[in-house]
Amino acid sequence: MLKRLSIIGHPLRLPDVMRGTSSFFKKRSQEYFQQQLSGILGLKYVFCLSSGIAAFYVILETLKKLSARKEVIVPCYTAPSLVVAIQKAGLTPVVCDIRLTDFNADGDEVLKKINQNTLCILGVHMFGIPWVDIVDLRKKIPKDIFIIEDCAQAFGSRIQERAVGSFGDISFYSFNRGKNLPTYDGGCIVTNSKAIAESVAEAIAGIPSLGAFAGVLLALKVWALYFSFKPSFYSIFYPLIACFKDTSVPDDFRIVRYTSFQAGVGSSLLVHAQETFTARCENGKRLISLLHGIPEIILPKIPENVVAVFNRFPLVFKEARHRDRVMERLHRAGIESSKLYLKPLHHIFDGSTTLTINPERSRRIDLGYKKDDFPNAVYFAQRLLTLPIHPLVEQEDIEVMARIIKEVVSR
Ligand SMILES: Cc1ncc(COP(=O)(O)O)c(C=O)c1O
Repeated sequence: MLKRLSIIGHPLRLPDVMRGTSSFFKKRSQEYFQQQLSGILGLKYVFCLSSGIAAFYVILETLKKLSARKEVIVPCYTAPSLVVAIQKAGLTPVVCDIRLTDFNADGDEVLKKINQNTLCILGVHMFGIPWVDIVDLRKKIPKDIFIIEDCAQAFGSRIQERAVGSFGDISFYSFNRGKNLPTYDGGCIVTNSKAIAESVAEAIAGIPSLGAFAGVLLALKVWALYFSFKPSFYSIFYPLIACFKDTSVPDDFRIVRYTSFQAGVGSSLLVHAQETFTARCENGKRLISLLHGIPEIILPKIPENVVAVFNRFPLVFKEARHRDRVMERLHRAGIESSKLYLKPLHHIFDGSTTLTINPERSRRIDLGYKKDDFPNAVYFAQRLLTLPIHPLVEQEDIEVMARIIKEVVSR
């Protein structure tokens, strides 16, 4: 049987899931998890929710109460669900281009988009690579424009020894199955601002809990995740698991509370989180050193003074045909790779995508840009391949990935 290496993975251990099971009825487990997160991230206020995108939505609703401005600046290559949340909050996404060095938003482009109607800037730490521009941004922009950090892909990443998420006014993390601390789904809002935290607490008070049946189902999904993360199980059940992978743009999302079960799993995962962060970081460095100096590819340039806890490893092929060939060769070698989001935001939301945010407000979303706007994001989306980098990836897998890439581009 061919060993299959999934693009996502995490050493979810039996004690982690058992801890979740024993926390099922313990209301305090969530409080405890939030305290742990607060300690690790160095941020005073933490609120867990059903997903990263629900966390982002609640942040937007909170900021709307603090300002009448309407525009949210987002990088052009990122999770399309972010636009869904902005639309659901009744706000306007304003897109800016990315850089082809660290694959994050171009800080100068962000500054150019600021105007009288800017409510906030969403700084995304894509792939776990810290968006370093955030360090100086606060000094450059007016105080009444908020900075939100999207740390969904970057749990564990740091800038100058400080956790990402501690530079903006308010931030969020994701705990979904592909992220650096997976509890099947979930996310959290973090902030150091008492005033913002009070507003968030108000917004969260009205959010319903997951029903009993859905709660049990979610617990079963975490158990399923435990098995699917086992390389031997994944290799056997790969065709079945592949059927459950969904890469379509979500047209809405639910906003419910995080469960005690998930909080129990999260608490247990946090105990050995640092080891897993180190593995992600070292695997990324190893790939960079093996692929360094190949003219046909662009590797992410990791800024100085940061720790990049990669969620996936991003790589750009200057010739798009190389990407397809590498993907196919990796697949044959049992290694899953992914093009991630197939298009930049202004191509996804060009009038062809219908959102059913709620049945009465179903509509086609057109961000109103031209196809050839944001050339870096367009180039990037057509050539990006992401590789598995999680702690279950072995040195031998990294060597196979590097060898295949070198062979394909040298032909
Ligand atoms: C950059 C980014 N932001 C936000 C999200 C949303 O997180 P969640 O899946 O927990 O809703 C994701 C998820 O893939 C993401 O990658």
